[in-house]
Amino acid sequence: MDTLENLVQLVKNCTDCPLHSSRTNAVPGEGPADAEILFIGEGPGFHEDRQGRPFVGPAGNFLEELLQSIGMTRDQVYIANMVKCRPPNNRDPAPNEISACSKFLDRQIELIDPLLIITLGRFSMLRFLPGQSISRARGRLRSVNGRQIFPIMHPAAGLRRQEMRSAIEEDFAKIPGLLDVLRMQAEPASTDSINEQPADYAVDPAPSSLWDTLPAAPDSASVEPQSTESREEPAETHTDEPPPGQQRLF
Ligand code: URA
Repeated sequence: MDTLENLVQLVKNCTDCPLHSSRTNAVPGEGPADAEILFIGEGPGFHEDRQGRPFVGPAGNFLEELLQSIGMTRDQVYIANMVKCRPPNNRDPAPNEISACSKFLDRQIELIDPLLIITLGRFSMLRFLPGQSISRARGRLRSVNGRQIFPIMHPAAGLRRQEMRSAIEEDFAKIPGLLDVLRMQAEPASTDSINEQPADYAVDPAPSSLWDTLPAAPDSASVEPQSTESREEPAETHTDEPPPGQQRLF
């Protein structure tokens, strides 16, 4: 899996979990190899399975609208999923399916090396923030093992409930500001700033301005709905303290 093209071929031929036997097409993911943003959804649905492309059904149309609202288009971002083949009847992906597929997502993250990973829905959030609740974690940037993670509710949830739609729109509106800060942090320090700033200035992961300026999740969005296509939210353990290796950025 030395290139994304190579990885796409391996996904298309994968038989490592039972999902391969019911798929029409595997859905490896798509986007530029140097995308700044990597979106991670849950798994292909009906339309994605038919076309072999991620987020091309109603949830995908909403995702495109959201991208447009921040002046972006889908061809500027990489879109992937936790599992690359459709779970039958859009059921939740099973732990063995997620685990069989995780090598592909791990490699996509390494190869794309995005500035920002945006998880869509509970399953992809749990990959980085195990044990946390999407309703509490959403809209807050976290640093997890050196990756910047911004959890958002699944777009499909926004198609069913207006308050979820508003919460998703509110979180999306934060993306341009986050990118600005992350780009600044990623920039090599200029000669001037090397002279003026402490040596670790350029990698400071928690600028206080972010803590101060970005609003907390509204109460209206504190309950995650049942997700599209009968995906339900199980009881969760809530914690405000990030586990070791994770850093709350705001
Ligand atoms: N929902 C997902 O999580 N992924 C897709 O690709 C489409 C719908």
